[in-house]
Amino acid sequence: MISTPTHPESVFTYGAPQLKFGSGSSDEIGYDLSQYGVRRVLVVTDAGVAATGIPQRVAEQMGQFGIEARVFDGVHVEPTDESLIAAIEEARTSGPWDAFVAVGGGSSIDTAKAINLLTTNPGELMDYINVPVGKGQAPSNPLQPLVAVPTTTGTGSESTTICVMDVLSLKVKTGISHARLRPTLAVIDPDLTLTQPPGVTAASGMDILCHALESYTARWYTTYEHKKPEQRVPYCGSNPISDMWSEKALTLLAGSFRRAVRHGDDVQARADMATAATFAGMGFGNAGVHIPHANAYPIAGQVKEFHPKDYPADESMVPHGMSVALTAPEAFRFTFEASPERHVRAAQLLAPNAGVPTEPAEFLPTVLADLMRDIDIPNGIAAVGFGEGDIPDLVEGTMKQQRLLATSPREVTEDDLAGIFRRSMALW
Ligand SMILES: NC(=O)c1ccc[n+]([C@@H]2O[C@H](COP(=O)([O-])OP(=O)(O)OC[C@H]3O[C@@H](n4cnc5c(N)ncnc54)[C@H](O)[C@@H]3O)[C@@H](O)[C@H]2O)c1
Ligand SMILES: [Zn+2]
Repeated sequence: MISTPTHPESVFTYGAPQLKFGSGSSDEIGYDLSQYGVRRVLVVTDAGVAATGIPQRVAEQMGQFGIEARVFDGVHVEPTDESLIAAIEEARTSGPWDAFVAVGGGSSIDTAKAINLLTTNPGELMDYINVPVGKGQAPSNPLQPLVAVPTTTGTGSESTTICVMDVLSLKVKTGISHARLRPTLAVIDPDLTLTQPPGVTAASGMDILCHALESYTARWYTTYEHKKPEQRVPYCGSNPISDMWSEKALTLLAGSFRRAVRHGDDVQARADMATAATFAGMGFGNAGVHIPHANAYPIAGQVKEFHPKDYPADESMVPHGMSVALTAPEAFRFTFEASPERHVRAAQLLAPNAGVPTEPAEFLPTVLADLMRDIDIPNGIAAVGFGEGDIPDLVEGTMKQQRLLATSPREVTEDDLAGIFRRSMALW
């Protein structure tokens, strides 16, 4: 169990970008940028999103406001240190840029965050990556305006302070986390998500769901030791404000997730998923996430041979949302005892017509596994290529995610993690 603090924390923080939400909102980006007085804008996207024509449409509106816009479509799906360095190089060579617009999923938004950081600040990528992988340096200069335009319903990266990447040489996923990385403006136009293929809708939707569930069950902010102002981190534990966003996100998902996967052209389901992603992002971006996300990093980083449907076929990958979901049922079975009422409430919000089972600890894991089966998420980590022999490496990878494990509502040991991975080999 978590020990009682000597001087309990009494303060929590809340940060969010400016938001513009709704059908047609992406047609106003040219005007919005003109309000910042910018002249040269780089639109950052990946080849898959570029094929929908959306980034070009966004770039074209800028001409009427006297803004020159160029589209860079070289984002790597699930960015790596190498892909980010290449994107930064390209932006440095073709710059200077007064502003950035990220059009795409978390991969494009995170790449734009890294480009923004390293075209406005000295040094190299590694200087800013979280310790112990990098030097964890804070930016010394302000960044340029960044408008984030999500085309997936998932990461919430448009409202967070994080940039996630795979460090290839170390086979580890990590990131950069700093308040200045938060986009200046998030433009969420649900119409842009209609072309998301079912496999991407399912995986990125599980990311929304886990953001909401993990922040809702995260360690309560007053259970930490009191911090000094300079010690405050973006992730401060669950609190009354993040709870509100997380609960609403769960209700929206309950009504729309299966429909959005099965009927991609269902405009209402897409709008509800986009709202849920935004709400969950505003919740977890402040409260934090815990075990499922910590486990996801080694699952994605140590992938062997797996090619998910609807993702670029040229390399093995376990997409972020899928890698988070695969151990979620077991993680919530483990954290149940820390706050039974929250776990039951979350399951009720997700499955409002289901009764509480005789064993309440089974409620949330069962509701999750039923949903995952319905939307075609693989049945556990064995289904994406892992075996019992991989568990020690997975546990070691998770233990490196101390920033995330610090938000777990229950102390978690290496043995606990090994058990969670073992029981997550097959989920149903
Ligand atoms: N910064 C954060 O706060 C944060 C949080 C969670 C995850 N992430 C990161 O975000 C990345 C995952 O992002 P994601 O799940 O949003 O997906 P993504 O950006 O990786 O895109 C997934 C695939 O969907 C395609 N696609 C996206 N939108 C489309 C559309 N509208 N129509 C057709 N195809 C479309 C892309 O081309 C790509 O092939 C991972 O790297 C993950 O680690 C970041
Ligand atoms: Zn996530």
